[in-house]
Amino acid sequence: MDDKKMEMLEKYFSDFQESLAKVETLDELNRVKGQYLGRKSLMGDFLTQLRSLSPEEKRIWGQKLNEIKSRMEEDLKKKYEWLMFEKGESSSFIDVTLPGRKQWVGSFHPVLIVRDQILSIFQSLGFRIESGPEIESDFYNFEALNIPPDHPTRDDQDSFYLSPGWLLRTHTSPGQIRAMQKLTPPFKVVVPGRCYRRDAFDATHSPMFHQIEGLVVAPSISMGDLKGTVAIFVRRFFGLHRQVRFRPSYFPFTEPSAEVDVSCGVCQGKGCRSCGYSGWLEIMGAGLVHPQVFAKVGYDPEQVRGFAFGMGVERITMLKFGVTDIRWFLENDVNFLEQFKALR
Ligand code: DAH
Repeated sequence: MDDKKMEMLEKYFSDFQESLAKVETLDELNRVKGQYLGRKSLMGDFLTQLRSLSPEEKRIWGQKLNEIKSRMEEDLKKKYEWLMFEKGESSSFIDVTLPGRKQWVGSFHPVLIVRDQILSIFQSLGFRIESGPEIESDFYNFEALNIPPDHPTRDDQDSFYLSPGWLLRTHTSPGQIRAMQKLTPPFKVVVPGRCYRRDAFDATHSPMFHQIEGLVVAPSISMGDLKGTVAIFVRRFFGLHRQVRFRPSYFPFTEPSAEVDVSCGVCQGKGCRSCGYSGWLEIMGAGLVHPQVFAKVGYDPEQVRGFAFGMGVERITMLKFGVTDIRWFLENDVNFLEQFKALR
C-alpha cells in the first residue's frame, strides 16, 4: 500500500463525514452506514486487500484501517443518538424485536400478611391497635408482669441484654402495661410487634419473631369472655369447622392461665403427623390478668378485671400455610415469598 491509497482513505473519511452531516432520518443513516462500512464499500475492499500484504505492511495498514473504521462507527453512533433522543426519531421508531421489559411487582411478607389478617379480625371486634418499643426496661418486660427476679425467663440464656436493666423485649406482654398506663378502662387492645430471644435458630425457633398481644380490661370480665373472643377469632381465621380447646397452664401475669389449642386442620382432630398425632395444635397463651399486674399500674384489682392473650405470628403462619421451617421466613427466597402474593 502506498501514499495514493492513504490519500484515498483520507478522502473517503471526509466524504463520509460530509454525507453523515446531511443525514436527517434513520433511513438515511442506515444508507450512509451501508455505503461507507458495508461489505461492498471501499473500506470493505481495503480490509479484503489486507490479506495479501506482507506482515509488516499488514500491521501498519491494519492499524490505520481500524482507527478510521472505529472513528466512523463512533460518528454513526453519535448521529444515531442525536436522531433518536434529540430530534425525536425514537417516537416514530419502535423496535418490535426488542424483548419486553418485565415490571417487577413486589409482595408482602407472609408473616406481615397474617399479622394484618389477625389484627383486622380483632379490629372488627372493637380492639384498638397499640404499639411499644423493641428496647424495653426490666420493669416493663418482667417486673410489672409479675415475673420475679429469679424467674427463668429473666435468664441471660433467654434474653438479649443491652445494658443492665435494658433488653430487647422477649414478648409483646410489656404492651399490656403500656396500654394500661395510657388508657382508661374499659378498653380492648391488640399490640403487634417484634420480639427477641437468645434461642437456637432451628426449624421452630428464631432469635427474632413476631407476637400479637391482646388485652381487655373492664369492670366484669370472665374466662367466658376470653373463650368466646378466642373462639370467634379462631373460626374467622382458620375456618368455621375448627374446634378450640383450653388447657390449664401457668404464666406469672395471668391467673388462671391457659394454653389454647385449635383442632388440626389436616386430620380434623383425628391425629396425624402434622399435629404429632394429638389432633390439636397450640396457638396461644392466655388467661385472666393477675391482680399483681393491675397493682403494678395502679389499677384497683377490686374494681377491674381483664383477660389477656399472646400468640406467635410465625407459628400461626406456619400452621395456616403448612410451612415446616421457621427459617424460611428469613431466607429472602423470592420463590418462597411470591407464593403468598395473591393473599393480599
Ligand atoms: N408472653 C407470653 C410468651 O411470650 C405469651 C402470653 C401468655 C401472653 C399468656 C399473654 C398471656 O398475654 O395471657 O410466651
